Amino acid sequence: MSEMLSLTRAARLIGVTRTEFQKKIRSGEMISHDGMVSIENLLKCYPDTQLEDTAETRRVAQIKERAFGKRVFERALPDAEVLAARVTELSKKLATNQGQVKQFNALLVKLWDKLAEVESRLNSESRMTMEYLKRWIKHEVDLAMEPGFINPLTIKDTVLRIITAQVTVMPGKQEFLVEGHDTLLEAAIRSGIPLNYGCSGGNCGLCKARVLSGEVKKTRLHDFVISEAEISQGYILLCSNTAVSDVVIEAAVAGSVQDIPFQQISARVKSVGHITDDMALLHLQTPRTQRLRFLAGQSATLRVGQSFSADLPIASCPCDDRNVLFHIHRQSGNLFSDYVFDRLKQNDVVEMEGPHGEFILHEKSPRLYFFAFNGGFAPIKSLIEHALSLEAETIYLHWFGSSQKNIYLPNIAHAWRDALDNFHYEEHIAGFDLRSVSGKREETLLRQLDNINAGDTSLLKGDIYIAGPEDAVSIAEQFFLGKGLPKTRVAVASVK
Ligand code: FES
Repeated sequence: MSEMLSLTRAARLIGVTRTEFQKKIRSGEMISHDGMVSIENLLKCYPDTQLEDTAETRRVAQIKERAFGKRVFERALPDAEVLAARVTELSKKLATNQGQVKQFNALLVKLWDKLAEVESRLNSESRMTMEYLKRWIKHEVDLAMEPGFINPLTIKDTVLRIITAQVTVMPGKQEFLVEGHDTLLEAAIRSGIPLNYGCSGGNCGLCKARVLSGEVKKTRLHDFVISEAEISQGYILLCSNTAVSDVVIEAAVAGSVQDIPFQQISARVKSVGHITDDMALLHLQTPRTQRLRFLAGQSATLRVGQSFSADLPIASCPCDDRNVLFHIHRQSGNLFSDYVFDRLKQNDVVEMEGPHGEFILHEKSPRLYFFAFNGGFAPIKSLIEHALSLEAETIYLHWFGSSQKNIYLPNIAHAWRDALDNFHYEEHIAGFDLRSVSGKREETLLRQLDNINAGDTSLLKGDIYIAGPEDAVSIAEQFFLGKGLPKTRVAVASVK
């Protein structure tokens, strides 16, 4: 019987997304049982698969790099001990198989002797039958011993099993792969799975989870004490362990904003640069042991200088919880934005509090529509990056600018569109200030939304996320509610 692989592992093997597999399964092209596919079936669906990296693998790697900037997506090897443990595990499997082959060979010799013994007692007619049987057995054995077709996927899978381990999180059955030196916690966060955690450094115990099966290895000492009784039940700290083999763990996953604790962090400015005359990109870095835990789309309060503060949407993905990005819009008379533009510099301390807000992704949606108005792109960017790590099926982004310069980071959206088949992007210029929309302006905006709706028959079947200045957001929200969408499918966030 052909070896079975999980969809997560198989997708990595071929170098495509799980979404693509799901489409093939729905169309009947690929056969899956309980989220598993056979190597044989995989090869049928992807006959051109080679041992080397496929163009698709490189394309996905490129997407990740372009989409997430500094996000690590390299096939780094795990540390020597983990590598040794994985090779040992595979060697055990090989030794078992070799032992079985030896036994079959010995059995074959015995069978031959037995046939010879029986043959000596047969009459001539039966001997002919026996002769026929022996010839047939010899032919079949010779055929089986011939070096035949070696499935490239089997070899590639063996190599990948040395480089990565698969983790399944119960009870939700979310899956992710652990690569390189990643701890279980780091790998989960990178994959967009919001496991419970606090310090990331072995002190708080919030990432405590139970290993149900498989082998893990402690990669760092931790101060938090797990009792002997808990250790015997399989409890570990996810921030201090990595996976040696494929593992199943039981762990708490944040399902709502209430599951994320309020945090206060002194972060440092990694960089602050102007995107346009009145838009700055602020890159904060948290201490290694105190990262910002948040859900994509949430906001934080920043305090700079002598207590100038602002509530701002986070413009980055929770998959990189140490590097937190903000888009700062310069507004005349706003002391916070003046300080950021004129005085804030690299290595300055910025106090960060949060996260706040409920503008988060409903992860079950297969079709996601994002409407960003001006600086509303910041939380939308966070949501899209998170949706990309979750491999959402289809993503549409409509970015409205009061003028062209309000679409201040078009290259990011262009890069997503160029790299991803399932990402669609359109820009719309309103031609007026989207912070103040009434009368004729409202009519114009409604007409633009109507045109988008008329050109896309699936728009009203998707989940809608709208962010930007209050006026524009409120009009867009009313537009979609007016089309009969329930409130639960229209999420909004006001961004100044
Ligand atoms: S996150 Fe604090 S101990 Fe693991």
